[in-house]
Amino acid sequence: MKPRNNRIMFALFSVLISASMVLTACGGAATTAAPKPTEAAAAPAATVAPAGAKLAVGIVLPTKNEPRWIQDETRFKDAFAKIGVTPEILFSEGDSAKEKANVESLISKGVKVIILTPQDGKAAAAAAEAARAAGVKVIAYDRLILNTDAVDYYVTFDSMAVGAAQAKYLVDNAKGTGLPLYLYAGAASDNNAFLFFEGAWEVLQPKIADGTFVIKNSSEATALKDKPKLTRDEEAKIIGQITTDWKFDVAKNLAESNLTAAKDADKGNVFILAPNDGTSRAIADTFAADKAVTKYYITGQDAEKPSVQYIIDGKQSMTVLKDVRTLVSDAITAAVAFLAGKTPVQTSTYNNGKFEVPAKPSEVITVTKDNVKQAIIDSGYYQASDFTGLP
Ligand code: BGC
Repeated sequence: MKPRNNRIMFALFSVLISASMVLTACGGAATTAAPKPTEAAAAPAATVAPAGAKLAVGIVLPTKNEPRWIQDETRFKDAFAKIGVTPEILFSEGDSAKEKANVESLISKGVKVIILTPQDGKAAAAAAEAARAAGVKVIAYDRLILNTDAVDYYVTFDSMAVGAAQAKYLVDNAKGTGLPLYLYAGAASDNNAFLFFEGAWEVLQPKIADGTFVIKNSSEATALKDKPKLTRDEEAKIIGQITTDWKFDVAKNLAESNLTAAKDADKGNVFILAPNDGTSRAIADTFAADKAVTKYYITGQDAEKPSVQYIIDGKQSMTVLKDVRTLVSDAITAAVAFLAGKTPVQTSTYNNGKFEVPAKPSEVITVTKDNVKQAIIDSGYYQASDFTGLP
C-alpha cells in the first residue's frame, strides 16, 4: 500500500509541475511561450501558476447528491491548489441537458481539455461531439461516454474487479446451502453498472448454480442462473429488475418491496449485493429494520465516509476503495499530455459501442472492519478524527 501511494504522490507531483507550465502557456494572464515537452522535466520544483492564471482544463461531474462526487471535487481542488489554481468544476445535477450546457460553457470559455463524468453514457455523446467540433479533447472520467468516437481517453478504475471483489466477499462468507441472495445494481444509463454486475456475476454464478445461494428478488437472474457469461441484453433484463438508479430512495423502496414480497423463510441470514455505498446504506437500513432478517452481509464501493463509519459500526460489511487521488492524478496527467500535444499512456482499451477507447484503469482495494484502519487511515486517505470507534 505505502510504496504504491508514494508512486502516486510522485506522479501527481511531476504532473502538477508540468501542469503549471501548461497553465503558463494557456492561461489568459500568462505571456511566456509553451515549453517543449522535454523541458517539463527540468522545471524547478517550486513552479507555481501565475496569479490569476486560468486553467485550460474544465471538469464536469454528475451530481452533488452523492459523497462520491463531492470527494472527486475535493481531490481535484487539492491537486490544483498545489499549483495555485482554482479549477473550474461544474456539476450536472443528474441532468444530461445541464451536462451539455456545462460542456458548452467550458468550450466558450476557451478550455482545451474537458474531463467529463457522464450522467448518462449515451446522452453524453452529443456533449463530447460538441467538444470535438470545437477542437477540445475529451477525457471520460470514471464513466465511459458511449456510441461516439469523440472520446479521446478514459481514466477509470477496473470496474469488473469492483464487482468481483463484492461478489468474492459474499462467497467467502457463505457457509451452507440455500442462502438467500438479494441483488441490486446501479443505473442502466451508466456503463459501469453493467461492468460491476458482470464482474460480480462471474464470481456469484457458480455459487448460484451449485445451490449455495438462491436469488430472491430477480426472476430474470434466476432464469439465467446456469449461464456463466451473460450478454449485454441479458444483463439489461436483470438490471431492469434490480436497478437502484444510483439513488438512495429508489434503493430503499426497492429493498422494502423485495422484503414485503419475501416470506420469512427467504430472510434469516441474507447476502446482499449492493452496487455502491450510498445504495448500500439505504438497503442495509431497510434490511436491518426487518425482524425476520437475523444477519446480513452487504457490499458497497467508494469508501464514502458515512460507509466507512457504517463498516466500523458493523452496519455495512465491506466497501471497495477506489482511491480517487489516483484517478485525479491520471486525469491531470492525461490533460497535461494533450495540452503538450502528446498522447497519454494507454494500458487498456474499453469498447464504447463505436470504438476501442484508449484507457488507463486502476486497481481497487477491498475494505472490511479488519483492514479499515490500515486501508483508510494509515494510507492517509481520510483522517482518524473523521470517525468514531475505529478498531
Ligand atoms: C461510479 C461509482 C459511483 C456510481 C454512482 C459509478 O459510475 O463508478 O463510484 O458510486 O457511479 O454515482
